[in-house]
Amino acid sequence: MSGIYRSRVAGTGSYLPEGVITNFDIEKMVETNNQWIIERTGIERRHKAAPHEACSDLCYEASIKALKDAGLTAQDLDLIIVSTVSGDQVMPSTACVLQHRLGARHIMAFDLSAACSGFVYGLSVADQFIRTGMYKNILVVGGEVLHRLVNYKDRETCILFGDAAGAWIVSRAEANDPNTIMSSHLHADGGLGDLFVLPGGGSRMPFSQEVLDSGNHYVKMKGREIFKNAVRTLTQCCHEALAANNVKSHEVDWLVPHQANVRILESVAEYFEFPKEKVIFSLQETGNTSAASIPVAFDLAVQEKKIQRGQLILLAAFGAGLTSGSVLLRF
Ligand SMILES: CC(C)(COP(=O)(O)OP(=O)(O)OC[C@H]1O[C@@H](n2cnc3c(N)ncnc32)[C@H](O)[C@@H]1OP(=O)(O)O)[C@@H](O)C(=O)NCCC(=O)NCCS
Repeated sequence: MSGIYRSRVAGTGSYLPEGVITNFDIEKMVETNNQWIIERTGIERRHKAAPHEACSDLCYEASIKALKDAGLTAQDLDLIIVSTVSGDQVMPSTACVLQHRLGARHIMAFDLSAACSGFVYGLSVADQFIRTGMYKNILVVGGEVLHRLVNYKDRETCILFGDAAGAWIVSRAEANDPNTIMSSHLHADGGLGDLFVLPGGGSRMPFSQEVLDSGNHYVKMKGREIFKNAVRTLTQCCHEALAANNVKSHEVDWLVPHQANVRILESVAEYFEFPKEKVIFSLQETGNTSAASIPVAFDLAVQEKKIQRGQLILLAAFGAGLTSGSVLLRF
């Protein structure tokens, strides 16, 4: 990949709201049980934003930690990207709300909509702005309050999703710094968009009593189809990233995939011929947090001292759209 400069990950942070929805809580809402959910998804609990918390509040907490980790202040930022499908409101963007709350300068700030691939899309955009020399310090956040988009009468979806935010500071690297973002590869297949949708509230199906009565303000998913596509696409993304960089899979220290379903991730590890022990799993604690999932899984693994500076990390994402992508980086 071309460009004058390279990007590095200068700091990371994450935030999980205090509230928790356990499988036992869900047992009380729909016909399901703890054992089924663990066996089929690997998820044991998900975090839930408090009634006063919106997406930007979660993003703020994660961003403050990432800035501190990078040794920067909000005044140092040149760009803010918030990847989300559950922003505070349709407009203004959650990134603008966050910019003001952080006390950043009047810098460019925008939301990015790529569902569960949102964070790798955001990283790739940030990387391009660094490579051209336009910006030096960029805040990329994945933040979601998904429990407000989920129907707690739909047992196929309500078991999966949770709330969280994860943030990275992406900065211009020194010329001789070996720890940089090496590549990003992004994809979308709009023809499969109907596998995972939130139909109500847009210009095609504006809010009405009918939308509310029919539950079209909640996510709708064809789980089995999503599952198959996720395994295939994530595996392809992993192969693509390694081939483009002439890297062998044994050289990768950690695979940090989108935390969708433990069986999806185990299948990807099998098809990618990658040891399961080197795959980061956090979904037992968080569920699927869409755009927040990769930066949260990453940050938790940094806190646990699994992921360390200098290691080679492969991020792979998949989501509604259908979108997908990878980022290969040396941390
Ligand atoms: C949703 C998901 C967990 C369902 O698991 P599954 O093993 O595929 O289950 P199936 O859809 O084959 O359904 C098997 C049975 O379990 C039932 N079932 C579905 N959800 C259930 C639940 N929460 N509890 C108990 N039974 C459930 C189904 O109704 C079906 O019953 P039937 O055989 O009587 O029709 C799984 O398909 C999945 O995780 N898909 C990917 C979703 C995803 O990652 N989305 C986000 C992408 S970014």
